[in-house]
Amino acid sequence: VREDMTSWATSSAGRVVFGRGAAQRTGTIAARLGTRAFVCTDSVLMSAGVLDPVLAALRDSQVEVVLFEGGEPEVARLTVEGAAEVARTANPDLIIGVGGGSNMDLAKGVALLLAHRGELSDYYGESLVPGPTLPVIAVPTTSGTGSEVSPVAVFGDERRRLKAGVSSTHLLPVWSVVDPELTLSCPPSVTAHSGMDALSHAIEAMCAVDYRSFETDLALSRIFSGKNGYSDALATKAITLIGRSLRQAVADGSDLEAREDMMMASLLAGMSFGTAGTGLVHALQYPVGALTHTPHGLGNALLMPAVMRYNESARTAEMALIYRLLDTGAKPDTDDQAAAAEAPAAVAQLAADLGIAGGLQGIGITESDIPAIAADAITIERLVRLNPRSVTVDDLQSILIDALIPATETTRHE
Ligand SMILES: NC(=O)c1ccc[n+]([C@@H]2O[C@H](COP(=O)([O-])OP(=O)(O)OC[C@H]3O[C@@H](n4cnc5c(N)ncnc54)[C@H](O)[C@@H]3O)[C@@H](O)[C@H]2O)c1
Ligand SMILES: [Fe+2]
Repeated sequence: VREDMTSWATSSAGRVVFGRGAAQRTGTIAARLGTRAFVCTDSVLMSAGVLDPVLAALRDSQVEVVLFEGGEPEVARLTVEGAAEVARTANPDLIIGVGGGSNMDLAKGVALLLAHRGELSDYYGESLVPGPTLPVIAVPTTSGTGSEVSPVAVFGDERRRLKAGVSSTHLLPVWSVVDPELTLSCPPSVTAHSGMDALSHAIEAMCAVDYRSFETDLALSRIFSGKNGYSDALATKAITLIGRSLRQAVADGSDLEAREDMMMASLLAGMSFGTAGTGLVHALQYPVGALTHTPHGLGNALLMPAVMRYNESARTAEMALIYRLLDTGAKPDTDDQAAAAEAPAAVAQLAADLGIAGGLQGIGITESDIPAIAADAITIERLVRLNPRSVTVDDLQSILIDALIPATETTRHE
């Protein structure tokens, strides 16, 4: 390989079927992969009837179903290992994850443990999965994580302060069945949190280090290879859709147009970060989430404005674009510098409009927690190295102090 070469590679998306009613395709797709499916979901979704079209489709295609309803928000590694025990006895040909990021990650974890020895923690980190897992079909019911097209699974681990991640292209679902109708029953808070997670994926991918700036070629040696034209195009469309429809999806969950926009946005944002990577918002959310047991998307929403303020000088054009795409009554004639300066406040305002306010303080973080959070976050090298400005522990502490106080109070100038 030429030493001066830099390139990027996609690490996202198997095949995707997208559209209203797409869940009815799950049977046909599953039947191509085998005759017995282990379905990972949770009791909330079962009682809401979200599984009905999926299970009916599997029945129609004569795919035998072994149902696991023990999924939980921010799924714990013990739950994954328990589910894998059940699955091993059932001996399925494929795993189907139906739910938000938590159930899809559960499905990925089960598929991993059924194909390889050891326990889940043996695979924490990057590219440690030695080969293909059982095939996974991902069926998202939230519009947020992009796990349906991401090479990542995230788990709680009671032995660690940080949430643990497994990143490997072997975790990519072979098929994603993306049906906006499955999100109609999503409550406003889950819609708001997961929507802000999708926004953070798009913004972090768009503002990541450029792939050309790495000294060595990362395309095939690392999962995330930095920002590039492909990830930018996906992030741009995702931010546009979120600006247009997230408020409406939260205000009126039965609005299928808004739901479809958000489902498309989270899919595209997932494909964007699956290639470029995410950065400091995610690095800081891991310790914040582990400390406060709050939803991933909520922590991201509270951290995003402060991280954007930190990165503004290194990503002026991108921040200006984000401000204009979010279309918060953006003045068309503002120059990039002025528009970029408005971007963090536009994100804080969007969050506030969804009922997310109060800063990190509001989820129980105090100033005395900050040194430990910063110290933990800086160790997440795979994310920290993607930030467009280099960072020290002190910088992370300043960002956290900035995020502590209600963002709208410090950034609104009206
Ligand atoms: N793998 C990845 O690439 C990736 C990326 C970002 C986040 N994550 C992880 O994903 C998890 C968060 O996922 P999430 O935000 O999708 O939420 P979630 O999966 O934790 O779900 C939250 C709650 O909403 C309920 N719910 C989901 N869909 C519903 C519907 N249609 N109707 C009614 N209730 C519904 C669930 O039952 C659950 O109780 C975190 O663990 C996070 O770390 C993973
Ligand atoms: Fe995320």
